[in-house]
Amino acid sequence: MISNICCIGAGFVGGPTMAVIADRCPSVKVTVVDINSERINAWNNSDLSKLPVYEPGLDQVIERARNRNLFFSIDVKSAIASADMVFISVNTPTKTQGLGAGKASDLRWVEACARQVASFAKGHTIVVEKSTLPVRTAEVIQNILKAAQDASKNKTSSSTFSVLSNPEFLAEGTAVKDLEAPDRVLIGGDNKDAIESLVSIYRNWVPENKILRTNIWSSELAKLTANAFLAQRISSINSIGALCEATGADIREVARAIGTDSRIGSKFLEAGPGFGGSCFKKDILNLVYLSRYFGLPEVADFWEEVVKLNTWHQQRISSIIVKKLFGTLSGKRIAILGFAFKANTNDTRESSAIQIGKDLLDEGANLAIHDPKVDPNQIEKDLGLQQVNKDEFERISNNNYGSWSFFNEASKACSSADAVLILTEWYQYSQINWDEIALEMRKPAWVFDARSIVDSDKVVNAGLNFWRVGDGA
Ligand code: UDX
Ligand code: ADP
Repeated sequence: MISNICCIGAGFVGGPTMAVIADRCPSVKVTVVDINSERINAWNNSDLSKLPVYEPGLDQVIERARNRNLFFSIDVKSAIASADMVFISVNTPTKTQGLGAGKASDLRWVEACARQVASFAKGHTIVVEKSTLPVRTAEVIQNILKAAQDASKNKTSSSTFSVLSNPEFLAEGTAVKDLEAPDRVLIGGDNKDAIESLVSIYRNWVPENKILRTNIWSSELAKLTANAFLAQRISSINSIGALCEATGADIREVARAIGTDSRIGSKFLEAGPGFGGSCFKKDILNLVYLSRYFGLPEVADFWEEVVKLNTWHQQRISSIIVKKLFGTLSGKRIAILGFAFKANTNDTRESSAIQIGKDLLDEGANLAIHDPKVDPNQIEKDLGLQQVNKDEFERISNNNYGSWSFFNEASKACSSADAVLILTEWYQYSQINWDEIALEMRKPAWVFDARSIVDSDKVVNAGLNFWRVGDGA
């Protein structure tokens, strides 16, 4: 019987996942720990609008469970010591240097966690990998824990471990829904008792037929493969979108037509500005690295093309904007609506807005950026450029490298702009009154809809030029 869970890492995955587990298992004490005290303070903030992760419905879950059986703390040691089950949910970015740079995952945080668990755990502890990890990472964790187990054999308080893989499949923006009603829960491992202990947690709200048990390597590989397949669909639809633009077809009609084939299915066929998010690129690059490592260069090349197409597609959008605006953006104002990698999240990791924003800055554009949830400090980090204050922004006319400024209202960002570029599908952007916006824009003015969310007739009737991704009509 599991009565005490510790989760290391209070990020986008650890925070919401543990909140739902605590909510659904009131008799289990769940402690989420992190070395980042600012993050922990934010999770403990009594003002629920200040939680570090924005997810619809999360505030209510936190309100019900926090300080009842859900706790956020920086005391990693005592949380591990009193836990029967420890989830590892730390960041695993792509390595930036050394062996496998640009492709392999940087496992230093996972390794550090395994060492912490090895030092502080007492009795038998089930260790669950929750972060997305390259296949055979469990082996690293197992090796570190085994060394600790062997070293403690002759001591009075010996510790033993079982390692499980339990990948998360939650998508940002729908995390609470995905956790509360998952398509499946995947548990990989070779210790039956440990697997059933974790099953008993999920059985509090997940039907038995949705809980899949596999060996540990299948579980790890299934997670990478699921993300690779999803990302592949987006690159596929965006590649056909480019062909639609060239031939007079419309990608939305093509997507609808192929999506009705039950073998293909209708989901994940929306053309956009390219996929972002913390998982897709990283997981595919991991798959590429693994395939090369195991002597399968053709497999590696096949999956690498999905990422290459995504980058090409982002650059394609930037260059369309430059061409439509007479080949130069120097001193021109472009309103960027949406900086998050998708709607209903404040996350900007790998957001297409970063690449496209940088391309436009390179061309000398002045970007008036709006996003309902993203913090301007984050945009500053992502673009690697400080924003200029509003007065200066209004004065800048001609520049070699562009500038940017954050606007709290979308309509203000569009004022005086030569073009509006919609990069995130926030609902509010589909409701914009283009007649009003058009009055304030500099003519000839353009609307570039990279998310296909606005009513083209309304834009055109307002006297604006219109481009939409994948629309060659
Ligand atoms: C993804 C997986 O969906 C999830 O199962 C996994 O656990 C983590 O990675 P996430 O990155 O949160 O989740 O978002 P997702 O909804 O998958 O979208 C990823 C990117 O693809 C976004 O930039 C989104 O805008 C884009 N996308 C998605 C499209 O461009 N078109 C689509 O049809 C769907
Ligand atoms: P994810 O999207 O996978 O949840 P995040 O970057 O949002 O990734 O969160 C990972 C969290 O893990 C960060 O808040 C980071 O501070 C935390 N973390 C990393 N290493 C450790 C560690 N050794 N002990 C505790 N927390 C850690």
